Amino acid sequence: MTDYSMALDPQKIPRHVAIIMDGNGRWAQRRGWYRVRGHVAGMESVRVVTRLARRLGISYLTLFAFSEENWQRPAMEIRVLMALMRSYLRRELTEMQDNQIALKAIGNLSQLPERVRRELEETIAATAAGDRMDLTLALSYGGRSEIVHAVQSLARDIAAGRLKPEDIDAARFSRSLYTADMPDPDLIIRTSGEYRLSNFLLWQSAYTELYVTDTLWPDFREAELLKALETYQHRERRFGLTQEQIEALEA
Ligand code: IPE
Ligand code: IPE
Ligand code: MG
Repeated sequence: MTDYSMALDPQKIPRHVAIIMDGNGRWAQRRGWYRVRGHVAGMESVRVVTRLARRLGISYLTLFAFSEENWQRPAMEIRVLMALMRSYLRRELTEMQDNQIALKAIGNLSQLPERVRRELEETIAATAAGDRMDLTLALSYGGRSEIVHAVQSLARDIAAGRLKPEDIDAARFSRSLYTADMPDPDLIIRTSGEYRLSNFLLWQSAYTELYVTDTLWPDFREAELLKALETYQHRERRFGLTQEQIEALEA
């Protein structure tokens, strides 16, 4: 087994890591294969990264698995992705339970095929007791839709007289998002070298550290996650303050 303790400071393990798992298609196409083979290979990265995140004591791991925009992809690719999702949920259930991992999902889940939604709901219920790590899948997820959805629910509360407009602040707004029970991500990792958020956790990423690697998602394994975490640990998060103020707070 690899020794992880060397490079990482156990006091500075991020609480919440979110990953934009990108580059599956290119990984396969570079080998002259169909794109979907990249999605199959990417599932192994999901397993490896989840296992290591849990061992390192990361409390929240959020994986961008399918965006709202991804519904515009070829029907065949969507079918394969949905089938992979179901088989992943079935295969990983015991491992999640054994490791006290609670599965969660964020996104417009009603758009998912009935069978996927059912499998997802069953897995969420079957792992609900897990208290070591929340593994959240962003499925049919879009940050702007999430914000619009939150605005609608607050507007309904106002219309019904349950809420006053002046009582809405950032904290109240956060509680109306899909991520109500989660802290904001400390670190967002994006694979495959694209410098964009692609509509992922727009509100929540206000002060998130960003890490982009050229590595394609199917090649993103233990060493890559460790490198991302090491880089994160060397960042100075200032939240708008001066370096001196931060040092005083840390002292
Ligand atoms: C990420 O890989 C997986 C999903 C978006 C579902 P892509 O399928 O986007 O792969 P590239 O970016 O085309 O290489
Ligand atoms: C972002 O990847 C969504 C997921 C990783 C699920 P995309 O491949 O869809 O993003 P763009 O199209 O390159 O921005
Ligand atoms: Mg992509």
